[in-house]
Amino acid sequence: MNTSYKYFFLLAVIMFGCGEKKKNMDEQKVKLKGTVVKSDFGSAPDGKVDLYTISNENGMTVAITNYGGIVQSIKVPNKTETPLDVALGFDDLSGYLGEHPYFGGIIGRYGNRIAKGKFTIDGTTYDLATNNGPNHLHGGTKGFDKVIWAAEEAMSSEGFPQLKLAYVSKDGEEGYPGELSIEVVYTLTEENALQIDYTANTDKVTHVNLTNHSYFNLNGADSSDVLNHEMKLRASKYTPVNELLIPTGELADVANTPFDFSNFSKIGRGIERDDEQIKFGGGYDHNYVLDEPSMSSPFATVRSHVSGVIMKVYTSEPGVQFYSGNFLDGSNIGKGGVVYGKRSALCLETQHFPDSPNQEAFPSTLLKPGETYKTSTAYKFEVMPTL
Ligand code: BGC
Repeated sequence: MNTSYKYFFLLAVIMFGCGEKKKNMDEQKVKLKGTVVKSDFGSAPDGKVDLYTISNENGMTVAITNYGGIVQSIKVPNKTETPLDVALGFDDLSGYLGEHPYFGGIIGRYGNRIAKGKFTIDGTTYDLATNNGPNHLHGGTKGFDKVIWAAEEAMSSEGFPQLKLAYVSKDGEEGYPGELSIEVVYTLTEENALQIDYTANTDKVTHVNLTNHSYFNLNGADSSDVLNHEMKLRASKYTPVNELLIPTGELADVANTPFDFSNFSKIGRGIERDDEQIKFGGGYDHNYVLDEPSMSSPFATVRSHVSGVIMKVYTSEPGVQFYSGNFLDGSNIGKGGVVYGKRSALCLETQHFPDSPNQEAFPSTLLKPGETYKTSTAYKFEVMPTL
């Protein structure tokens, strides 16, 4: 290297160093825009459990327990001065340890159904736990919603409060091949979005399809009225099912069916229609094929004129299970002693399509060693402008 090149090289190194130092200083300047408060949430059979209450500077709070990564409450701004809890759940851990339909939990290894609890990879057939008649549902008998996750309070690069959860699912757990290491990060943004980022790695080829099973009622978790909520869903196709809610493999048009939510429409409008698919689900319990999965433009907007709450949902996933709480039957007594009756809440479970391991035409849910599973979903809350 001649002398002038040496000086140039030295200068470049110094400038790069200064840039890095400035970046570090900028990072240090980022302040936490909210709080994460940890409190005791009791003991599960597998160990002690905590509740993490995450708040932002707008007064929105989300409580999450490391038992099942369950979102226990989501308190959002609305027409009134007091934040409104829009997520169904229980006041204490004992409710979550009992029988309930996955309120708020992280669902895995596979969200929704796998026909007959079987799939074949490279000529080997794997038998999964069958916990929904002959089929496998939401990860089996003890899915990710019933295990204790390692929890860590954290902060995003923008300063948003976070809860990081980690869990290692053993090779063979619930019948699945491969040891799967999963991280789920809940972030509460200053725009009132609860963002969920999922990552996973495996040491053997396996199937993965993670989601969150929060039940929403935008009039408050103590309200039974969800059928008057209006929803707009950017999905022109859905995956019809058989009577056991296994996809037939067809992608059907929603146009001219009760499944069409391309314009704002009441959830209750088509729910009693004389339609075979509605009968199979007892209402809506179907996977929609999203027109344009995106983290910057919502695939769904749900709103209630009663509370003034608007929920916008974003995802990187190709599908969403729209479930209108048809199997809620009053047997769960939730927060504040409220009886959760039929269709008192709705779920928008972002996901790959049900039974993908057995449906070649559906986007694949296979994860191989060396690859990283990575998906994101956000539920963002706004208040309707008052006229
Ligand atoms: C399923 C429903 C099920 C509910 C609660 C939904 O994702 O599609 O059929 O009843 O979860 O388990």
